[in-house]
Amino acid sequence: MPSMKAPKGTRDILPPETSAWQRVEKAFSSVAARFGYAEIRLPTFEHTELFQRGVGDTTDIVQKEMYTFLDKGGRSLSLRPEGTAGVVRAYVENGMPSLPTPVKLFYLITAFRYENVQKGRYREFHQFGAEAFGAAGPAIDAEMIGLLSVFFEEMGLKRTGLRINSIGCPVCRASYNDLLRDSLRPHLAEICGLCNDRFERNPLRILDCKEPKCRPFIEGAPAQLDHLCPDCAAHFEGMKGELDRLGIAYAVDRGIVRGLDYYTRTVFEFVSENVGTQGTICGGGRYDGLVEACGGPATPGIGFALGVERLLMELAAQGVVNPPLEPPTLFVAAVDDTSGQEARRICHQLRRAGVPAEADWNGRSLKAQMKAANRLGARYAVVIGSDETTTGRAKLKNMKDGTERDVALDRLAEEIR
Ligand code: HAM
Repeated sequence: MPSMKAPKGTRDILPPETSAWQRVEKAFSSVAARFGYAEIRLPTFEHTELFQRGVGDTTDIVQKEMYTFLDKGGRSLSLRPEGTAGVVRAYVENGMPSLPTPVKLFYLITAFRYENVQKGRYREFHQFGAEAFGAAGPAIDAEMIGLLSVFFEEMGLKRTGLRINSIGCPVCRASYNDLLRDSLRPHLAEICGLCNDRFERNPLRILDCKEPKCRPFIEGAPAQLDHLCPDCAAHFEGMKGELDRLGIAYAVDRGIVRGLDYYTRTVFEFVSENVGTQGTICGGGRYDGLVEACGGPATPGIGFALGVERLLMELAAQGVVNPPLEPPTLFVAAVDDTSGQEARRICHQLRRAGVPAEADWNGRSLKAQMKAANRLGARYAVVIGSDETTTGRAKLKNMKDGTERDVALDRLAEEIR
């Protein structure tokens, strides 16, 4: 017997929780549009090679967490583990490098990672993200963080910590990697196997290791932020200045390196203690080499993605109340089966006119119908019988105060506005 349960790491999102999802989706789209970002919608799967090149061969995401399969034509495809690589692919493929800059895009997506499932960590999850192409200076970095801070503010989030760092460019990264190796080399026998693997190929990723035995050596290691080239240092200072002018509070965290390979210069995260061991609601940064690595012209880029499940956990933890599902404005009850036909016709016309309306679909008694109207939270009810059908008039009952007034049935929509 095959399992009839949802696969591990996936979850059903049911009403009334869906109303919280609709609220955050609407708010994010609205804030993004206000900041000049246009929506982009992309395929759920891409050629595996895109993620290998885009996200990076040495990352956990590509090495261990991708849902990769061969299709019937023998192509290796992968469910997207994140959105940036696909956006970059679409940006290049659709000729967007020739558009006026910056090109600003946002997305609402599902993403897939074969991870250890725990609080706030799923195998299918949702991201809101944004990417901006073609602006190299630090102003756009701050604009993007500004977008997030306005979104969080509008959602009612009060305590969300912004951490920023710079991980330099390929030039200062290369000399910093040497420094890092020098600092870790004497401890190779003491640090974990994975850190040993990363030592030559991508030592920066060692800084992200959570193994207790590695932490003391990581904490004692030099930080990239203290070894930036003058251009990268000026970029970071420029961004801090922009954030200060926007009134956005931040903490510099030399430990942020991020789990994807494409980052250069600015990296940032919004963290909270309410969303599981990871604590990160949102992460992003600059990726000035990625468009070129994906076959496009050299183009600076920056973006972020926000975990929607984690955002909703954080909203709940901070006591932000979800809006209830929209109740029907009017319940059209009927005294018997024949009147039920007329009630359903009226209900349909009201819905056409833009009024959320409900009727009875089960042939229930009038008493049961009025109970249902109350349970659903309808603001008004009308009862249709043979008199009402003949005269075209009925008593419109205000469900809150019990008052009634006589109205024409074909003017119901206007009467309750
Ligand atoms: P990321 O840090 O891998 O970055 O993911 C961004 C956010 O997605 C995380 O902060 C977290 O809230 C959420 N997230 C990640 N994995 C899971 C999971 N397994 N379950 C639930 N939530 C999760 C990126 O994906 C980059 N593409 C961000 C970016 C865009 N950088 C530049 N542009």
